Amino acid sequence: MRIGVDYYPEHWDKDMWQSDARLMNQTGVKIVRLAEFAWCRLEPSDGLFDFGLLDEAVRLFADNGIDVILGTPTNCPPRWLCEKHPSILPVGDNGKTNPIGIRAHRCYNDTKLREYAGRIIARLAEHYRDFPNVTAWQLDNELEANICFCDTCNKKHREWLKRKYGTLEALNKAYGNVVWSGEYQSWEQIGPPYGGYNTTWLNPAYMIDFERRATEDMLEFIQFQADIIRSYIPNAIITTNACFCNHTSDFTAMFSELDVAAYDNYPTACLTSDYENITSTSAFLDMVRGAKRKNFWIMEELSGMPGCWAPMQRTPAPGMIKGYAKQAFAHGADTVIFFRWRTANIGAEMHWHGLIDHSGVPGRRFYEFAELCKEAEELKDIQGSELHSDIAILYSPDSGRAFRLQPQTDGFSYIEQIKAVHQAFVRYGLNVDIIDEHADISGYKIVCAPALYVTDNSTVKMLHEFAESGGTVVLTARSGVKDENNNCIMEQLPTVYRGLVGCHVTEYDPIGRDKAKVRFTDGKEYDCKQWCDILETDTAETVASYESEFYAGKPAITVNSCGSGKTFYIGTVGTRRMYEKAVKQILDISGLAYTEGLPENVEITTRTGNGITARFIFNNTTLKRSFELDGKAIQLDPFEVKIIRM
Ligand code: GAL
Ligand code: ZN
Repeated sequence: MRIGVDYYPEHWDKDMWQSDARLMNQTGVKIVRLAEFAWCRLEPSDGLFDFGLLDEAVRLFADNGIDVILGTPTNCPPRWLCEKHPSILPVGDNGKTNPIGIRAHRCYNDTKLREYAGRIIARLAEHYRDFPNVTAWQLDNELEANICFCDTCNKKHREWLKRKYGTLEALNKAYGNVVWSGEYQSWEQIGPPYGGYNTTWLNPAYMIDFERRATEDMLEFIQFQADIIRSYIPNAIITTNACFCNHTSDFTAMFSELDVAAYDNYPTACLTSDYENITSTSAFLDMVRGAKRKNFWIMEELSGMPGCWAPMQRTPAPGMIKGYAKQAFAHGADTVIFFRWRTANIGAEMHWHGLIDHSGVPGRRFYEFAELCKEAEELKDIQGSELHSDIAILYSPDSGRAFRLQPQTDGFSYIEQIKAVHQAFVRYGLNVDIIDEHADISGYKIVCAPALYVTDNSTVKMLHEFAESGGTVVLTARSGVKDENNNCIMEQLPTVYRGLVGCHVTEYDPIGRDKAKVRFTDGKEYDCKQWCDILETDTAETVASYESEFYAGKPAITVNSCGSGKTFYIGTVGTRRMYEKAVKQILDISGLAYTEGLPENVEITTRTGNGITARFIFNNTTLKRSFELDGKAIQLDPFEVKIIRM
């Protein structure tokens, strides 16, 4: 397994590079990421390219046996360029142009940006193809983090709408623009959602299209950059770093034309105050693997206390630097690159800590990192092995968008739904894939699609066929609510899935932060929250009923037979324990083997390949853990990862 670091030669004196590269080599660093924000040094004035500095750094790393992943610097166009062509600067949702200095100051659609970005990328690719240690490319940086509201984007948006709807009448109808007299009389009236982007007052049909088009533009920008690099280096390994922030709906599409998926992994270091988030990391890792259903890279890994624009968070506790990196291995990462080697002493991110603090004196975190590098080398036999899973959780990009636009009830979040169901399977030591709703699901035994809110007919068909042919399908509340335009379907919920799950919703109660109770048929009771579908069975049987509220006794969770498969419907949002209970029943019906009795926040995943099966057991807690696994006593220190080869 390969460990790397993010490094910024342009921030440091050259003599520091020397000692840094030497120390990296001694420590076991195998790859550095360079240059993703360095445009002003690479092209100090229009058309004057100066790669001297970068050449020196790349050569220095070559001399130290270290590979380079080069960033295309398009995230930060230089000042001279923005002054010459101000249209490059993106516009925020307040209608105002974003200032230079906060980075990401580029509109993907601007023709001047494309021209200058295209030129420097071509120059870089042409130049660095001859450097044998430049082995991969990162496009821009966290591309999904920003949406632009400029005129260029808006013009493109209108063209996109014309292609999609043909006529204004069709668009007005699809959007239901008659509401609040919003009908357009001309295409020119269509503008970006200035001032309202984060409010819920705007038309959800209009808003989902706005986000869809913005995603497509990001994909186009990715393709644009990758094509240029490939025209010089046909076998280039190209990726980009996803952060799964607000607009990351389309994680599969983001990487579909790239060679490998990569993710910026900042697990929480605050295990007491951030209890729910402890389990987020495993879900996100399964999601980035799910993007291509292949092993992936971590492009930025937690190295020290995060903070800068927000207050600083706790320092990674002893064991976390190693533990979280190995957790990434456990989920299919083969390369883990730490952000960052050194903590910046300049710029806005000077309090986002790297492996080495401002003092320059390697400390506890660094020495733990050094141990990791050594231990990673001992995992050569596991490199390239993969996770295989019988369980898939579907992520619907459109449902993600639609829920962000219209939160359903206090506390409800789509990604939290995905994570809750994911975590329930993790509790049983199973591999789980989180994949796009359009991915191929043949080959899985259980497919869960929590809150499949926006309907896509191909997904509906796929889930029916999957169940018919013997698979187990799990749906939850808020499924089948919206049509493809993000308007409500006028049928009893879960509308298009009613036949599949054999039950329907007679009424629902968005209970928000209140609690209700459900009782399973064996008498066990669990809390539920946020949402209660009051169900009536058609052909399904009741698995659990409400135990409180005016609907006490009505079904809350059901199971149905569909063809030779089974379908579950969970009409509420449970506590962790409730999902664990339901998932055990789901696993039993599906006949899958699983591990019981794992301590809380201990994860097991399995990688196979190269003739070996390796089980990774990770203790994501600050406590020592001991338990039995297959008749053997296992003891784990805090954040320890044990790897058992079988
Ligand atoms: C990431 C970003 C890095 C750095 C890091 C820590 O989101 O890609 O450049 O900013 O966060 O703040
Ligand atoms: Zn724009």
